[in-house]
Amino acid sequence: NSTTDTLIRAELISFARDPGIGDTPEPGSLEHYGDGLLWLKGQHIHAVGHFNELLPSLPENSDVLDYRDKLIMPGFIDTHVHYVQLDIMASYGRQLLDWLNDYTFPEECRFANHEHAEALSNAFLDEMLRAGTTTSQVFGSSHQGSVDAFFTACQKRRLRMLAGKVLMDRNAPEALMDGTTGIAASERLIEDWHGKQRLGYSVTPRFAPTSTKTQMDAAGALLRNDPSLWLQTHLAENSGELDWVAELFPGSRDYLSVYEEAGLVGSRSTFAHGIHLDNGMRKRLAERGANIAFCPSSNLFLGSGLFDREAANETGMAFTYASDIGAGTDLSGFDTLKSAYQVGQLRGQPLTAWQGFYGLTKGNAKALSLDSHIGQLAPTLEADFVVIDTQATSLLKRRINHCKTLGERLFALMMLADDRAIYETWAGGICQHHRDN
Ligand code: GUN
Ligand code: ZN
Repeated sequence: NSTTDTLIRAELISFARDPGIGDTPEPGSLEHYGDGLLWLKGQHIHAVGHFNELLPSLPENSDVLDYRDKLIMPGFIDTHVHYVQLDIMASYGRQLLDWLNDYTFPEECRFANHEHAEALSNAFLDEMLRAGTTTSQVFGSSHQGSVDAFFTACQKRRLRMLAGKVLMDRNAPEALMDGTTGIAASERLIEDWHGKQRLGYSVTPRFAPTSTKTQMDAAGALLRNDPSLWLQTHLAENSGELDWVAELFPGSRDYLSVYEEAGLVGSRSTFAHGIHLDNGMRKRLAERGANIAFCPSSNLFLGSGLFDREAANETGMAFTYASDIGAGTDLSGFDTLKSAYQVGQLRGQPLTAWQGFYGLTKGNAKALSLDSHIGQLAPTLEADFVVIDTQATSLLKRRINHCKTLGERLFALMMLADDRAIYETWAGGICQHHRDN
């Protein structure tokens, strides 16, 4: 019933805009209600405010869910993740190119089997919701059925999700290459899924080494035909990859220009990693409004390098936060922020909790052009949010109860919390995950 009222009394935290890089959030950026009310109508947020101020306007005899000991934030967003790699997380001891050949490509071959794709789609969504993530931008395998299975599972749960079929027509195992059929398969998936319910299609050339110029040009043509499509790929993650791209594209000025020449760089484009860029490339990305998905736990795991947030800020290049499972080591947004903080420390660029939680919610939503739908607790937006239990473990409880300010509490959560602190995850106005104990 689309007009059902749901009323939740809790501490509410959300960002109206970027809090800036200072130790305290810029005025007007943070919205915090210590004793707040989140009022849902059906799948959307109807009102947000102080409990006492909204009380007189509530429908008579309404039931209010009492979550006063919990903290509610917008659902976490993961801008770059491979659902098909869930089962190869934590595969030991390789850097990118060996890791792809030894673990990733063999695993992705399994997605020719539709039952496997269905099982993994559901397992992945269960894990994402358990971690408090309500929206992600997802790589399937090169099999179109992998994306049908994924979107079908998302549709059943009414989730807002972006996904696409990997395009790969060279330098990969025979069983994973789509030759000249990859673009037609993408077009069929776009026709069937893009804009259906809360689903969107991301055109997904894996990365320059595994697509011919012909395939990348055709991917660019898809984007020109329909500007509402998204684009996801990888860029400048690993030094072996950079050498390979230079060898494969001797006529291109640099790695980014390979994508520019194919028409793949726009405001709906997400490039994972972007570790090894110069300021010229960063400025070109900024001018096009594209974003780099910073995947800190993946970058640490594969030994790829340390993303430079300061250079991003100085050049105006947007970046987002992502897990990059299966190279990432955790699906939890808390863990992504912890790793981002650690990467920042090694660069002398510590990350504030304000930046971190803004990034995971409103910042990621904005960079994906989804901020009119998700990323904030605000009227008319979709009711996708996490209910956080700051007392979830004895350690967390000790540390949180020792904090004097909201900033300290959020920072402790960023460093110590994990999926045990996700009490509930709501999407589309319904509770989709409730912690077991
Ligand atoms: N570059 C190309 N493919 C991949 C992938 O699957 N994972 C990561 N981390 N980098 C890539
Ligand atoms: Zn990736």
